[in-house]
Amino acid sequence: MSNYHIKHLEEYFQVYRKSVRDPETFWAEIAGEHFLWRKKWDTVLEWDFTKPELKWFEGAELNITENCIDRHLLTRGSQTAILFEPNDPKEEAQHITYEELHERVCRFANVLKSKGVEKGDRVCIYLPMIPELAVAVLACARIGAIHSVVFAGFSSTALATRINDSDCKMVLTSDGSYRGAKTIDLKGIVDKALEDCSGVETVLVAKRINSEITMKDGRDEWLQPLLDAAEPRCTPERMKAEDPLFILYTSGSTGTPKGMVHTCGGYMVYTAYTFKNVFQYREGDVYWCTADIGWITGHSYIVYGPLTNGATTVMFEGVPSYPDFGRFWEVVEKHKVNQFYTAPTAIRALAKEKLEFVEKYDLSSLKVLGTVGEPINEEAWHWYNDNIGKGNSPVVDTWWQTETGGIMISPIPFATPTIPTFATLPLPGIQPALMDEKGEEIKGNLVSGRLCIKYPWPSMARTIWGNHQRYKDTYFSAFENKYFTGDGALRDATGYYRITGRVDDVIIVSGHNLGTAPIEDAINEHPAVAESAIVGYPHEVKGNALYGYVILKEVGESRDHDNLRKEINQLISERIGPIAKLDKIQFTSGLPKTRSGKIMRRILRKIASKDTDNLGDTSTLLNPEVVQEVMDNALV
Ligand code: WTA
Repeated sequence: MSNYHIKHLEEYFQVYRKSVRDPETFWAEIAGEHFLWRKKWDTVLEWDFTKPELKWFEGAELNITENCIDRHLLTRGSQTAILFEPNDPKEEAQHITYEELHERVCRFANVLKSKGVEKGDRVCIYLPMIPELAVAVLACARIGAIHSVVFAGFSSTALATRINDSDCKMVLTSDGSYRGAKTIDLKGIVDKALEDCSGVETVLVAKRINSEITMKDGRDEWLQPLLDAAEPRCTPERMKAEDPLFILYTSGSTGTPKGMVHTCGGYMVYTAYTFKNVFQYREGDVYWCTADIGWITGHSYIVYGPLTNGATTVMFEGVPSYPDFGRFWEVVEKHKVNQFYTAPTAIRALAKEKLEFVEKYDLSSLKVLGTVGEPINEEAWHWYNDNIGKGNSPVVDTWWQTETGGIMISPIPFATPTIPTFATLPLPGIQPALMDEKGEEIKGNLVSGRLCIKYPWPSMARTIWGNHQRYKDTYFSAFENKYFTGDGALRDATGYYRITGRVDDVIIVSGHNLGTAPIEDAINEHPAVAESAIVGYPHEVKGNALYGYVILKEVGESRDHDNLRKEINQLISERIGPIAKLDKIQFTSGLPKTRSGKIMRRILRKIASKDTDNLGDTSTLLNPEVVQEVMDNALV
């Protein structure tokens, strides 16, 4: 039996039982056998969910980039580590070997040092999906700087909030980015953001689209000449297992984003372990995850998980629809991709197009198909399984979160029998619990409840940057002595889990988590707006779309409503980013509220979803008459 590489269902159950019976021995064996530590740990795990405090491999020292790169130089130095596929299919792909990656990361690390970045400093990375992004992430990790990657689709305001929240002293960006047929002025967005970020001393700019940009004297510099001049070797910083590796922001129910902090040792062990098992990666395979490195999926399963396993990981700059809807499948054929990992929203978008876009290409290299980010509906699951996998490549529906660092519930391909829409079974070391509203655990099968995790796993986020109390309140206060995920789930007769969706004020649109509060804050900034409420409603491609109810300050406001809608969406774009724009905006004179003044979102959600047969109990409302008005004017 191998703890590290599970190949059969029986083996999974054996390993799982061991991981629950004796978690410390289990993780110590995995950590001890498969990684390079500069110093071994004193204790495997210390934890207390009431504080909460979590320490894995305390006392150990390591550098994750030695595990991602240096360790492979002897055995696979000339193998491709990162395979870069550009936005434009006419531009040549780049094969970056482990040796080349080593040199590029070292040079970049030396540039960071020469600009005064030290261990523990925060560096904001706002780059498109070009090799510099992965190299920048690893360069920070090499010298112990804490990277904070901000998805390059966020607006200048959102970027500024994130830079300031973690006091970044440097920003790494590019002149611009390609997105299908469009270009985006990233440097312009950074310049605007930095008007509000006094702590940033240096901006290093990669050249990608050769656009005219302004460089601020004494602050901005082109990256490439600095890299060319830097030393190609850089000794990795010895990091403590519990030193922060990175911060990654995720939306919450309240206004400001949460900077989830992940640490070096546990994160490395868990992402490597889950990558190996969930994708059944074998030496020589080509693995492709279509996510952006700006999200946790990219951190864990484009960069760290694959590279610790010595894999070849594809980095794709483009979009699924450019130059046409066959782009993904063209890349699969071109690079003979073996494992493919994408989001349900992309699958749904492609499933709407003609099958010719798929049939044109040879997809026989595929072995495993993954999905992540939101529940996958049955139709999309079958389309993926039948047309892409041809029934031969298991679909792994992987459930996890920014906070969990790595995949938590997922089939192990060729071991766990799959069922559409089920994430199936917890991975080794993961102990899920379903809870009822009273806070009791619901035992047995054929039940549903709120999904919690009862026991620590190595890649848990350790805190929210600068706000440990919020970390405790958000994740450890709803249920005693348990981590609360914010998701609902059901467990079927065989013990399989199906994630049913968020039970809090986070809405997942096209796989992006959006908190309702920040969007409402943006809308309320409009001078004509008095109050607003956002809910999600089902959408064929995006999973959920956003529906806004807006109360204007002046009744009978004479302004053109369509124009107001545009202005509101413009504001949302500026404050958060285009991904948070509303699909529908209904102007209303009131919102249903409880006697304590809380908006009854449940009712608004039902109206937006055309599900008004049973609105539930409205008798406790302060203003029940409003419900009829909202229904009469609903945009459905
Ligand atoms: C949702 C993405 C159903 C869930 C890795 C979770 C899923 C949130 C699945 C985290 C899945 C993720 N099935 N829902 N397979 N995977 N989710 O932080 O609601 O961007 O809480 O992490 O996405 O989103 P995040």
